[in-house]
Amino acid sequence: MMPSMFLGTFFYLFLFLSFATSSESKFVFNGFSGAKLGLDGDALVASNGLLSLTSRTSLVKGHAFHQTPLNFKSPVGRPLSFSTTFACAISGQYNYDISAHGMAFLISPTTNFSTALSAQFLGLFNSENSGNSTNRILAVELDTLQNPEFQDIDDNHVGIDVNGLRSVASRTAGYYHDSNGGFRNLTLHSGQPMQVWVDFDGEAMQLNVTMAPLQIPKPSRPLLSRTLNLSSVMLDSMYVGFSSATGSSSPTSHYILGWSFTMNGEADPLDYAKLPQLPLLTVPHSGISKSLAILLPFVICSFLLLVVATLVFLIRRAKYAELLEDWEREYATHRFPYRDLFRATRGFDVKQLIGVGGFGSVYRGVLPPSKREVAVKRVSHDSGSQGMKEFVAEIVSIGRLRHPNIAQLLGYCRRRGELLLIYDFMPNSSLDKYLYDHSGPSLDWARRFGIIKGVASALVYLHEEWEKVVIHRDIKASNVLLDGEWNAKLGDFGLARSCQHGIDPRSTRIIGTIGYLAPELSRTGRSSTMTDVFAFGAFLLEVACGRRPLVLEAQGEKLVLVDWVLENWKEGTVLATMDPRLAEECSSAVEIEMVLTLGLLCSHPVPEARPSMRQVTQFLDGDEALPELSAAYMSYSYPSLIQNKAIYGDYGMSL
Ligand SMILES: *[C@@H]1O[C@H](CO)[C@@H](O)[C@H](O)[C@H]1NC(C)=O
Ligand SMILES: *[C@@H]1O[C@H](CO)[C@@H](O)[C@H](O)[C@H]1NC(C)=O
Ligand SMILES: *[C@@H]1O[C@H](CO)[C@@H](O)[C@H](O)[C@H]1NC(C)=O
Ligand SMILES: *[C@@H]1O[C@H](CO)[C@@H](O)[C@H](O)[C@H]1NC(C)=O
Ligand SMILES: *[C@@H]1O[C@H](CO)[C@@H](O)[C@H](O)[C@H]1NC(C)=O
Repeated sequence: MMPSMFLGTFFYLFLFLSFATSSESKFVFNGFSGAKLGLDGDALVASNGLLSLTSRTSLVKGHAFHQTPLNFKSPVGRPLSFSTTFACAISGQYNYDISAHGMAFLISPTTNFSTALSAQFLGLFNSENSGNSTNRILAVELDTLQNPEFQDIDDNHVGIDVNGLRSVASRTAGYYHDSNGGFRNLTLHSGQPMQVWVDFDGEAMQLNVTMAPLQIPKPSRPLLSRTLNLSSVMLDSMYVGFSSATGSSSPTSHYILGWSFTMNGEADPLDYAKLPQLPLLTVPHSGISKSLAILLPFVICSFLLLVVATLVFLIRRAKYAELLEDWEREYATHRFPYRDLFRATRGFDVKQLIGVGGFGSVYRGVLPPSKREVAVKRVSHDSGSQGMKEFVAEIVSIGRLRHPNIAQLLGYCRRRGELLLIYDFMPNSSLDKYLYDHSGPSLDWARRFGIIKGVASALVYLHEEWEKVVIHRDIKASNVLLDGEWNAKLGDFGLARSCQHGIDPRSTRIIGTIGYLAPELSRTGRSSTMTDVFAFGAFLLEVACGRRPLVLEAQGEKLVLVDWVLENWKEGTVLATMDPRLAEECSSAVEIEMVLTLGLLCSHPVPEARPSMRQVTQFLDGDEALPELSAAYMSYSYPSLIQNKAIYGDYGMSL
C-alpha cells in the first residue's frame, strides 16, 4: 500500500508540476478566437480568428502580446532556450508592388509601446531609443521597405534586431529547399501566407530564423543563424508577441494566422486545417467603397466596351449586308463577300473610281487575301426582280468562259439595289479612251488591228466554239478593255440586260447601243449572232475612223458613221474616212481599207448578207480575200437604216 500511495502522490505532484510549467511556457493558437491576447493600436482579432495587426490604414501601429509574461532566464541567469513558429501574411492595397512597412515577432519586458513610432520604426522603437540597450528587446523583423537609416539590405528582408532597428543579422526573405538545397526567394508582401520559425538554443547561444511558404515543412537549413549572447536582454519576465506598422504611402495589412510557442523545447506544429482564411480582396475598414473603387471602373469600362462592340457589330452588319437567296447557293463559289469588296476598294472611295458608264461605276481594288488587282463594277439593280435569278445564272455561266480576249469575270455579289461584278483589273482601261478624243492618247494601226483581231477571235469563241451560243449584245469600243500588253478583252456580257433588269429577255425591248443596232432588231427585237456581227461592223468603222458610230454634227445634224463611210466608199474615197491620226501610216493603207470595207460588209442591212465571225477572222488574217461588196448592197435603198435613224434619232447616244 505504502509504496503505491507514495508513487501515486509523486505521480500527481509530477503531473501538477509539469502542468504548471507547461501552462506557463507553451501555447498553440491555430487562429486566435478566444485567445488571451493583449492588443493595442489597430490590432484586432477578426470573427474568423484572424489576427490583424494593422489593416490598410496609413501611419498606424498594432501590437498583440501573449497576455502572461514568460520567464526567459534560468536560475543561474542564463537565457533559456525557446522555440516559436507563426503563420503570417502581408498584403498591400491595390497591388503587391509596394508595401509598408513591416512586422516583427518580439520579446520585450513591456507591452507599453505608446512611445514607439509607426512606419520604419515598426511600432517597436522611436528615433530616441532605437539601439539603446536599456530596451531589452529581441525582435525578428519582416521588413518590406529598404531603410538606409538602419542599413537595410533590401526591401524584402528578414532581420534579427537586438534593442534597435539596425539588424545584427539579415537576409533576403526566402528559404533553402530541402531536396536540392537551392535558395528560393519569397516575397514578403505577396499576400500569400508563410510560416516563420524562431529557435533559440540557450546552451549554444544560437538563434535560428527559418521561413517557408505555408504548408511546406520547416526547411532544415535556417535562413538566418546567429550566435547571440542574450544575457543582457533576457529577464525572468518577458512578453512575447507581434508588432507591425504602416507608412504614409501604401497602407498594408499584416496578419497572423496562427502561433505556437514553447519554452525549453520545440514549438508544436501548427494545424494548418484550423488556420483562419485570409480576406480575399479587402478587409472591413471602408472595404466596400474601396472594392467599389477598384471594381467600378472595370464594370463601367466593360459595359462601355460591350455597348461599343454591339454597335460596331450592328453597323458592320448593316454596312456589309448582302442579299443571298436560296437559289444562289449553287453559285456560292462565284460569290464574293461584300466586306472583301468594300475593303478592296477602300470603301468604294472616289479615288478608286476608274470609270462611270451607263450601267454603273467601276472601281479599282485589290482583293485582300490574294492581292489580285480587280475592277469592281457596281450596277444598280432591282433586287426583287424576276430576271435577277436568270441574270446571275448567266453571269456565272459567263464566268466559265475562258478565252484570252474575254475579260475574266471573277464573280459577283448582290446587295439591296446593287449588283457588283468583279473582273480582272485592266491597266489600259477601255478602247474608247484612245479613239474619240483626238487630242488625247492614240493607238497606232498595228495595235488597233491587233485589237480588232482579238475581239473577232473572242466572238468566234462565243458564237461557235463554246458549249452554248453566247450573244454578246453590246459590242462597242467602250466594252473592249485593254490589258498591260494592249491585248483586247471583251467585257460587259449581258449588262445591257442587267440594266433593264427584270425585263424578259425575249421581250421586244431593244437592247444595245444606238449606232450598233442591226436594223432587224427594230423589227423583231431578237438578238442573234448576226446582230453581233452588225455591231462588230460598226466597231470596225469606229476603230478605223476614230469616231463614234453616231456623231452629232455642229448644226444638230446626226451623222451615222456607216452611211458616211458607205457614201465615201461608193465615191471611191473610203480612205478619207480613216482616223486622221493614222494618215502617216501609208504602209497600212491596204489593211485600213480592208477593215473599212469589212466594216461595211458586216453592217450590211440584210442579216443574211453579213459574214459569220469565223469568216471575218479569215478575212482579217488574209486567209481569204474580201468579197466585193455586192451590187445588191450598192442598190439597197436602206429603208431600215433610215428607219433606224428615225427611231433612235431623238434618244441619247446610248440606251
Ligand atoms: C505607457 O508609457 C507611457 C510613457 O512611458 C506612460 O505615460 C503611459 O501611462 C503608459 N501606459 C500604460 C498603460 O502603462
Ligand atoms: C538609453 O535609455 C535610457 C533610459 O531611457 C537613457 O537614460 C539613456 O540616456 C539612453 N542612452 C542613450 C545612449 O540614448
Ligand atoms: C532573389 O532576390 C535577390 C535579392 O533581391 C535577387 O538578387 C535574386 O535575383 C532573386 N532570385 C530569384 C531566383 O528571384
Ligand atoms: C540552428 O541551425 C543549425 C544549422 O544551421 C543547427 O545545427 C542548429 O541545431 C540550429 N539550432 C536551433 C536552435 O535550431
Ligand atoms: C554574455 O554576456 C554576459 C554579460 O552581458 C557576460 O557576463 C557573459 O560572459 C557572456 N557570455 C559569453 C559566453 O560570452
